[in-house]
Amino acid sequence: MFLVELPAHQQAFDIRPLSAALGAEVVGLDLAAPLSDGDFARLHRAHLEHHVLVFRDQHITPAQQVAFSERWGPLQRHVLHQFALPEQPEVLIVSNIKEQGKPIGLGDAGVFWHSDLSYKDKPSLGSFLHAQELPAEGGDTLFANQHRAFEELPDALRAQVLGRRAEHSYLKQYKALQQRSPWRPDLTPEQIAAVPPAVHPVVRTHPESKRPALFVSEHFTTRVVGLPDGESEALLQRLYEHSTQARFVYRHQWRDGDLVFWDNRSVLHLAAGCPEHLRRRLYRTTIEGDAPA
Ligand code: OGA
Ligand code: MN
Repeated sequence: MFLVELPAHQQAFDIRPLSAALGAEVVGLDLAAPLSDGDFARLHRAHLEHHVLVFRDQHITPAQQVAFSERWGPLQRHVLHQFALPEQPEVLIVSNIKEQGKPIGLGDAGVFWHSDLSYKDKPSLGSFLHAQELPAEGGDTLFANQHRAFEELPDALRAQVLGRRAEHSYLKQYKALQQRSPWRPDLTPEQIAAVPPAVHPVVRTHPESKRPALFVSEHFTTRVVGLPDGESEALLQRLYEHSTQARFVYRHQWRDGDLVFWDNRSVLHLAAGCPEHLRRRLYRTTIEGDAPA
């Protein structure tokens, strides 16, 4: 018999499922302390299994959030660079707060179901949100399991989507969002040039777990390639309704110290919103993923 000594910096933490649809909370881990390769491997497996990890009680700086995020892959910067955290520009400020009438961050991130940066050739692998200020009421984030959504597609709908591709565009809802949020800045010609549309499979295969997932969303998907407009629109509407049904959804109610990390290849997400007079502020980092296949 050999007694294997655990490396001194291995941490004792629990990973507890949060709902039948998806999600797990990570309790007892301190991301401000060094993270061993073994602990990272455990988190990696849990992320693939549960799709959303909620790290409780994290008191980390933006620089520490960036450093932890970078362990998962290269970071992507959001096209609305005016909402980057000045001292840490890989961090996007997600907030409804206005100072002297000016928004300090993106106040309406996620009012439509979406997968972050699906309009890019290389959409996001996953995103982190770290709670900074939470409203006393509302402000939940919903996540919908797109592996389950694919598995439970009615046969007729499945036959219509297999082998199809769809276009995604950052500009699709931009005007609609500006109408509901007049503070939303006009895009400069440079910003528009930075977000050309991208085409991806409607059903993608997760590059790590190899599981199929639906990959279309109300926020960014404009059309199914090769279908007449009316048919494309009707098919997309059916997919949006199907993919966000309650049985696929975990609703996250934020607690102080929460750092949430979701898999943009497996889930769609939506901001439920909160009363405008209540302050909400979170810091987002976004990891680049593969070109969907
Ligand atoms: C995002 C996002 C949802 C929320 O930051 O990518 O969609 O609840 N946020 O703030
Ligand atoms: Mn988002």
